[in-house]
Formats: sequence, structure tokens, C-alpha cells
Amino acid sequence: MTRKAANAGLMALLLSTALGGWIDQPARAATSPAAAADGSTGAESGQGHSANHSAEIHPELWPAVAWPRVIDEAGEARVQALLGRMGLACKVGQILQGDIGTVTPQDVRTYHLGSVLNGGNSGPGGDDLAGPAQWLALADAYYEASITPSADCPPIPVMWGTDAVHGHSNIVGATLFPHNVGLGAARDPDLIERIGAATAAEIRVTGQEWTFAPTVTVPQDYRWGRAYEGYSSDPALVASYVGRMVRGLQGPPSTAPILAGPHVIASTKHFLADGGTHDGIDQGDARIGETELRLIHGAPYLPAIENGVATVMTSFSSWQGVKIAGHRGLVTDLLKGRMNFGGLVVTDWNAHGQVAGCSNASCPTTVNAGLDMLMAPDSWKLLYTSLLGQVRDGTIPMARLDDAVARVLRVKQRLGLFDAGKPSTRLLAGRYELLGSAEHRAIAREAVRKSLVLLKNDGVLPLRPTARILVAGDGADDIARQAGGWTLSWQGTGLTNAQFPGATSLWGGIAAAVRSGGGVAELVPDGQFKTRPDAAVVVFGEAPYAEFQGDLASLQLKPELRGPLATMRRLRAQGIPVVAVMLTGRPLFVNPELNAANAFVTAWLPGSEGGGVADLLFARNGLDFRGRLPMVWPAEARPGARPLFPFGYGLSLADGPQGWTVLPEDSGVAEEGSAGVYLAKGQPTAAWSLEVDRAGGGESLRVTTVPALALGGKVQIAAVDHLVQEGARQFRLRANPSGTTIRLTTTSPIDIRRQSNGELMLLATLRIDSPPSGPVSLTQGCGDRCAATIPLPELKSLPAGAWTVLGVPLKCFARAGADMGRITSPWALTTRGSMTFSLAQVSLGTLADRVVACPR
Ligand code: BGC
Ligand code: BGC
Repeated sequence: MTRKAANAGLMALLLSTALGGWIDQPARAATSPAAAADGSTGAESGQGHSANHSAEIHPELWPAVAWPRVIDEAGEARVQALLGRMGLACKVGQILQGDIGTVTPQDVRTYHLGSVLNGGNSGPGGDDLAGPAQWLALADAYYEASITPSADCPPIPVMWGTDAVHGHSNIVGATLFPHNVGLGAARDPDLIERIGAATAAEIRVTGQEWTFAPTVTVPQDYRWGRAYEGYSSDPALVASYVGRMVRGLQGPPSTAPILAGPHVIASTKHFLADGGTHDGIDQGDARIGETELRLIHGAPYLPAIENGVATVMTSFSSWQGVKIAGHRGLVTDLLKGRMNFGGLVVTDWNAHGQVAGCSNASCPTTVNAGLDMLMAPDSWKLLYTSLLGQVRDGTIPMARLDDAVARVLRVKQRLGLFDAGKPSTRLLAGRYELLGSAEHRAIAREAVRKSLVLLKNDGVLPLRPTARILVAGDGADDIARQAGGWTLSWQGTGLTNAQFPGATSLWGGIAAAVRSGGGVAELVPDGQFKTRPDAAVVVFGEAPYAEFQGDLASLQLKPELRGPLATMRRLRAQGIPVVAVMLTGRPLFVNPELNAANAFVTAWLPGSEGGGVADLLFARNGLDFRGRLPMVWPAEARPGARPLFPFGYGLSLADGPQGWTVLPEDSGVAEEGSAGVYLAKGQPTAAWSLEVDRAGGGESLRVTTVPALALGGKVQIAAVDHLVQEGARQFRLRANPSGTTIRLTTTSPIDIRRQSNGELMLLATLRIDSPPSGPVSLTQGCGDRCAATIPLPELKSLPAGAWTVLGVPLKCFARAGADMGRITSPWALTTRGSMTFSLAQVSLGTLADRVVACPR
């Protein structure tokens, strides 16, 4: 096997241009991708000395940055005049941002809310898949409500923020660009600016003004489930993109007003060191020194500020144990002080509730730390009340509130919001043909081509479009798989190709290329062809995920996603050359797949334009692979493994056939169970047990073998089929005055606080065989004297005899008093009545057939 050295020249250039002389070489050497080639990652290099550092920041050690002039004197005068006319309630409302799922236009009016957002699972009328006209109509409704004058509050238009993180990705039919990890492989800042401009234009079609992008994280541990939202593990590469993306979205800093052109405001996120947490744990703690904080994670904020990024979103995570959303040193002294950031700083989704001493309902610390707007999806009303009190009693100084409000108003003035009219009357609004337009899709397809990294080629590539090509693998015809998380839904799950009008799957792209070349293409997912093909393309890889759902303990492909390996091996044994195409948000241990295939292409998460992959597989119009790894690809799945391919690696077709030395196929780690799955195929997973108890204690049976009897015959347990033979357990309950509980338990408590802040649910795949004769409830236990119980009236109306995924939002339990930090029994069903039900699976997730309403 031959390997190309990392492109040291390019790195040196990026360093010198993007960062000036700021990155001092000795400090950088410890964490640069080149240094990481010896196997150490930045995250690890920080661990050893973490104890020596405190969470105290020294702004004077950081570079001073020049904030561009973004509003003129008249604009500033207007801001001050407005501020002077605003009463306290009006001011407090301006610094709050609620989610459209909980905010009505009337609320915007009553509470003077400064902003709304749509979280990943929110859409107009509660519909994630609502058409673009409904988004625009809702934007109008919020706007109209916001400009209704009232006593002590002049009309101040609301602004709407959305996660357009890879195109306007919440909107059906929008162009979906590759996720940032793929763009990092493209090494093309100019392309990044064009993507930003196209995304901004599509956002304007549906009436929003603000995107929570770009994510400028510099991931140091790819076990982190959000690593794909970052361009690269290399700060210089990330920094080389940030300014261009901000300009693409907002226009150059001199653009005034922003809404007069085809632009929106951007948000660089998540400040600071979201990609530097210990073990890559989402919302975790970055245990690193200030130098590493500055050189690695701080680097992208320089070009962001120089280019006038309008907003910065703080991270859920901590630095040295202190949550950033409450860290005055980082937010006020560093970002706004030393680095001169003149826009507004917004928190992440209820992140204030994680700050020490705070709850979702109250957090003066966050405002006093320097946050100007609180993203309070469902907590805005409680905050409105608590903030009013905290300003009145001086806990929050009026001057701080005024500063926060002035920053919000300056952003609005810069947008031109006061003069823009309602969203549907603005530039590009309602021009639905721009969503997924040919021009935007062409940019996305170019981005796909530029992002593909060729890791192996024994000469099978390029394929001939005159040949008979078999296309196989579970990812071959699955646009949601290509698109990854933050696509239509939060986790990007539960979607079919029909929900991506105008998009092209990898299969679709290959079929078109072969058709126009005169060959024959055939899609057979399991590879069992009828007519022998000349070559096969096997598409495999990760399934969509977003925040914390995507965290891994080691860099392995989940066992349930390894099926295509057998297909590759079988085809090879039949003498058919195989091209493996991997869909993934990160480098994983895939040595077996690398060995099995004749050629191996990493396609990352390419988005809606699958045709870009075919362009290179067939070298259409002489196109060649030019993507280069934006991180190190490890030789084993364990953290700190030595590199298999160095940073910057990538082959081209022009290199010709390459030799291959067979790789060891031992991942170096034990297989992990899937986190968040407590019962699968009717059986408790590792560390969990299934019990039948007499409610209130006394008798108990741990279910191991079936059939079984419990509680003196009051409960019969049997195996029944679900998907597979005996894939579920059936519980036949006789009436029991003391109550019967079916429970999953563990002796080592789990911490699911992050999962309950994000809208995750406890899902049970069950079937009611005979309906309950009395009330049924569900309890989460958290140690001896801690439990929360939710009534389950829904069970009565579930269709008997049909399998249903019943979801209970974790926050229902949190609200009912469960300590989500130490759950010992996530699922315990209790009833005194009789009923028969079957249970196949209990896990955490986002997709339910039926969602239980939290008790009021
Ligand atoms: C994510 C942010 C996102 C926000 C709004 C948070 O959970 O961390 O990246 O912008 O939600 O959806
Ligand atoms: C929302 C996301 C948000 C997440 C917070 C989800 O319910 O849809 O936008 O980022 O919760 O963790």
C-alpha cells in the first residue's frame, strides 16, 4: 500500500494566511494533525495535565480582533432611541427565544419575544414536513404579532432562527449540501462561500432571517456524535472556511441592510471547545489547558469576528468543569472584550438550565455571564417571569440587560428588520422554485465530487459506463442515509426517499450514468444477482444520528450495519470486482471492508446530490478524485490508535492502480452493546434485568427462561414472535389488588440528563393482546427513595393485536420528579387490573407511533 504524505505545504499556507503569526509553532506541534500521526489526539494530550489548569481565562494571552463597522451612526441612534422607549417587560422579552412548538403569534405579542426558533423536530402546525408556504405563512404571523405596538413596547420585529446546517435542511425539497466533514475534505474555501450564498437564498424563500450555522467546531475525538458537523480536526483548515461561509451567508461585513440582499445572519457555534470534550462526550467537559483552548478551539472565531458574524452560540459543554453558558471570563472578558465581538451571544437549547445553581426556569448567572439571548424552547415563559424579578431586585443589573437588548436591536438594525416589511414581501420570499433549484443542486453536486476521498484502488476504478454494474448495500438507495442528522427531523431518522423530492440517491446517480453510457445497472441490496455483473458497487456505512445519539465508545461500525461486508466478500469470491462506498460522519475501523473491496471511497454524508458520486466512479468528463482526509483515519477502533491513513491522505485515479497490503482485522476493542437499549428481542440487554414484582415489594421474579409463572401464578410469561421467532415476551396478568409491576432494572445507575434535555423518549415496542381492566402507570426509578410515575391512559386505546411503538418523553419523568442523573429502572409498568401484553423492545429514541402526554 502506498500512502501520500499530508500536504504540509497547504497546511503551512493556511496557517500563515488565516491565522497570521498567531499560532505559535511550539504549542501547535503538540496537537497538529501531523503530530497526531503518532497516534495521540488533541483530546488526550489535554488529559494528562488537566488537573493543573483552572477554568480561569487570561484574555490578554489571546489575540485582539477587529470588529468591522456593521451599523452606522444613524443606526446606532435608532437603537438607543428604541431602547429608551422600552419598559422592563419589553426588554426582557427581547432577550428570549422560544421554539415554534410552544410559541404562538399571540405569545410573541404578549411577551414581546425577541426571537423564535424551530428546533430539529419542530415545524409549522407541529409538522416537520410542512410545505414551504406554511413556513412562510407562520413567519408572517409571528412578524405581524411582533409589530403590534403596546404600552411601554414599541414595535420590534421578531427574528426566526433555524438550523440550516447543510443547506436549508429542515425544508422538504431544499438542496442538501454535504455535511461539514465532507466539505473539509474538499479543501475549497471558494466553494464554501458559494454554498453559504445558496443556503441563504433558500432560507429567504421561506421567510427566516437567521441560521444557526456554521458549526466551527474543531473535533478532536471522532467518537463524538457531532464530529461530522465540523469541517476538520485541524484548526487552520476550519479557520480557512469560516470567514468565507459567514460572507456567503451574510454578505461582506459592509452589507447594509443584510435583508436587502439575498442574505441571512449566521451563528458560529458552539463557543467554545465543543469539539474538545473528554472522551468526545456530547455536552461534556473540555479538560484542556488555555493554550490548547486558544490554539485549537479558538482559531475559527478570529475569521468569524473579522468577517462580522452577527451571532455566536455558546456550547452546552464545559471548560474545566464550568459550563460555558455561565462562564463570564469566556463570554464577556474574552469573546466580547479581548476579541471585540460586537454581535449577540445566544445560548444553546435550555443550556442555561445546566449552569451551576440554575434551572430551566431561572438562571441569572447566564445573563450576568454575558449571554444576550436565551434559547429557551419551552422554558421562555418561566424565564420571562424569573428575569423580571431578577432585574427588579438587582440580581441582574439593569445595565447588563440594556447591553443585551442593545445587542439584539443592533442585529435587527443591521438586518434592516425595522424597514423590511413582513417576511413574505421580502426579497426571494415565496420563490419556491429556488428550493432545490438546478443552480443550487449543481453547487451541491460539485461539493460531493470534491469531498469524496479515495482510500484504495487496485485499478477497478474508473468503472466503465458501458458495463453491467450491480449496485448493492443497505445504503445504496437511501437519501436519508446520505443526508445524515439535522435533515427534516432532528436525528434525520424516520424518513423515506419520497420525502426528498428532486434528490438523487447514490443508486439513482449510478443508474443515470450507466444508462447514458449504454451499460446496464441493477439494484439488488443484498447483492444476490440474477445476471452476472462486470463489477459491483456496495454502499454501506452509518445510519443517521445527531446530538448524543451519535456518541460512540469506540470507532466501530455498529454490528447491525455490517451486513454489506458479507456481500462484498461473497461477490469477491465469485470473482466480481467490488467498489465499496462508505456513508459516514467520521473515520471508523473498517479494515475488513477495506480488505474486501478492490476500491474504497469515503463519501461522508453527501446530501441530496448522489449523482456526484457516480461522476467520479465513472470519471465522467475526465473528473478525478481530489478529496483529502480532513482528519487522521485510525488503524484500530480504540481511542489513541495509530493512524492507518494520515491527515491529508487521498488517492486520485491519475495515480493509477495501487498495491495493497492486507490489513489486520482486529478492531482492538470489545464489541459494545448499543447504548440506550434496555430490552431487545424480548430480552434485557447486558447490565439489565427483567423482573416481575409485587408492587410495593415482597415477591419478585427475575425473568430468565420462559415460560414462567410469577407472583403465585398471577402472572404468566411466555415467548411470542416479533420480527423474529420468539422476539418478544408476553405477560398475562390476572387482577392483583396489591398491584403487579413489570420492570427493567440495573445495579449501576445511568445518567440520562442530556437525553431528557433533548427531546428524547422512552420507547416501548409492545402489543396489547387483551386490554387493561384498570389504570396502568409507568414509573422510572432512581434509587431507593426516588421515582416518578406517569399514568398511561393511552394503553386502553391502543389497537389490540397490533405492534405499536409507544413513546414517553423523558421530560415527563423529569418533571414528575425523577433524578435523571441516576436512573436504576427506566421502565416499570404497574397495574392492579388484568391485561395481556407483549413486549419486544425498550430503548431511547425519537420515533414513536403514539406519544404519551405528560401529565399537567
Ligand atoms: C444544538 C444546536 C442547535 C439548537 C437548535 C441544540 O440542541 O446543540 O446546535 O442549533 O439545538 O436546534
Ligand atoms: C430539538 C433540537 C434540539 C435538541 C436539544 C430537540 O428536541 O429538536 O433542535 O437541538 O432537542 O438537545
